[in-house]
Amino acid sequence: MSAAHIPRPIDALDMLEAEHRAIEQLFDAFERAERDDFERKNRLVQRVCELLTIHAIVEEEMLYPVAQNALGADQRIDVDEAYVEHFLVKTLIERFASLKAGDDGFDATFKVLKENTTHHIEEEETTLFPEVRKTRMDLVAIGANMAARKAALQQRIAEAAVAH
Ligand SMILES: [Fe+2]
Repeated sequence: MSAAHIPRPIDALDMLEAEHRAIEQLFDAFERAERDDFERKNRLVQRVCELLTIHAIVEEEMLYPVAQNALGADQRIDVDEAYVEHFLVKTLIERFASLKAGDDGFDATFKVLKENTTHHIEEEETTLFPEVRKTRMDLVAIGANMAARKAALQQRIAEAAVAH
């Protein structure tokens, strides 16, 4: 079997892109929910906020700092931009702490969260991730660490949910 046939192992960027797809599916499910199905809307928003929160923590801890070191000065601006986009997304997530489906502003906050996140995902996948792939970063090792960190964060969220 030639090298061309050996599949590349799953790495950090593959994992992050799979999470992007899962987040987009939740956005689509929200759009399809009945306008007055508040229970479903609350559940979908809670799930998307959890996924986005874990996703942002993992990227900020394990990808962005290493990428900032590995990328050239011209590309580093894309990491800076990603941090600012995360800040906006996190600010929108915070708004949901005091908003329930049916409240004024709930659907609007969701719409802006979706728009910002979709833009951020597109920027990462078309600009930042391709640049990161050109570096010598060990993305397979980072991916393994990410999986462990993600599992720990999910566990913490599950425990917090039980405690409430
Ligand atoms: Fe991100």
